[in-house]
Amino acid sequence: MFKPIQIADKLYSVGCRDWDIRDFHGYYIPEGTTYNAFLVTGEKNILIDTVKSNFSDELLSNINRIIDPKKIDAVISNHTEMDHSGSIPKIMHKIGEDKPLYCSKMGAQNLKSHFNREYNFQVVGSGDTVTLGNRTFSFLETRMLHWPDSMFTWMPDEKILFSSDAFGQHYAGDKFFDDEIGDEIMPHARKYYANILLHFSPRVQALLADVAKMNLDIRMICPDHGIIWRKNPSKIITAYDRWSRQQPGKKALVIFDSMWESTTKMARAVTSGIESEDVGVRLMNTRKWHRSDIMTEVMGAGAVAVGSPTLNNGIFPVIADVLTYIKGLRPQNKIAAAFGSYGWSGEAVKILNKEFEEMKWQIVDGGVKVVYVPDESDLERCFDLGVTLAKALKEKLSP
Ligand code: FEO
Repeated sequence: MFKPIQIADKLYSVGCRDWDIRDFHGYYIPEGTTYNAFLVTGEKNILIDTVKSNFSDELLSNINRIIDPKKIDAVISNHTEMDHSGSIPKIMHKIGEDKPLYCSKMGAQNLKSHFNREYNFQVVGSGDTVTLGNRTFSFLETRMLHWPDSMFTWMPDEKILFSSDAFGQHYAGDKFFDDEIGDEIMPHARKYYANILLHFSPRVQALLADVAKMNLDIRMICPDHGIIWRKNPSKIITAYDRWSRQQPGKKALVIFDSMWESTTKMARAVTSGIESEDVGVRLMNTRKWHRSDIMTEVMGAGAVAVGSPTLNNGIFPVIADVLTYIKGLRPQNKIAAAFGSYGWSGEAVKILNKEFEEMKWQIVDGGVKVVYVPDESDLERCFDLGVTLAKALKEKLSP
């Protein structure tokens, strides 16, 4: 439980911190997360979003520190994924199931599917405005950012945007606002974008263009995870604009796994070759790094080399895991190369190249295969592969 945080006049953050969660459907979140929910009080009391079901009592307790939860007049559900909708049954039961529940059309369908109940759904869409007491709320559907039901709620008088998952971060701590935590929050926001929203970057670009046209003059952004952007909301909007453009950076990433250290030696040689061309590089062993950390680095890299030994005519299981995850998030504008050792069949490089093709990454070299253990000349070929990759990246980035 935490003391509700007042974020504006008669507006409170009443959500919960999940200090213990580490796995968010495959994304490693070492600092836990928050499920933010917001209570607007006044002539009418409105709850915007809820929290994961196992935190329902904590949410009610937080609300109770401000008003009797039974006095909530309406609920707005910006997003129906269970980390935000899971407490809706308990909240609706408490406040009265006839109270209006505002959501998108898809939101109403999802809530029916999730809870097998008909609430008093008030379906809203982009451009709709609702006045509740002395407060006005308008809505902007943000379909597939990141679910079909997702929407933003905007309070035009207060110039506050409730942005659901967008602009969030998986961070649980003792800071609640951007000005309290400063730039420390940006790696969390970047990892969140890479692992949740990168796939939808064209939609993010379109949304940012729509929001710019609307001239909203946003004073504060309240996402459903992490800190609230009250001092400088344009900082996260600018970052989203940059990340969603997917411009390649002048840095490379070497991802690998190894059976008997042969592919490790190859990976180190590829890395040295990249460095020799004055291109920044990071070497990531898939046994040492979580897929979501690798994904975050992929987002910023212009070039990616992947190394895998051949195992049972295929690539290594952990490499397959990481590539499946990366592929789903659709990073674009990468150049790529493959390498790996093998004993007798040697399919890994071919399979990796096929993965690159499917991701529409530009293959700059057919790759390097080495039988069993690389000798000096094999390692030179790997070094040269790194040089080729780095040169291709520099050429791509040259004006
Ligand atoms: Fe934080 Fe899409 O849920």
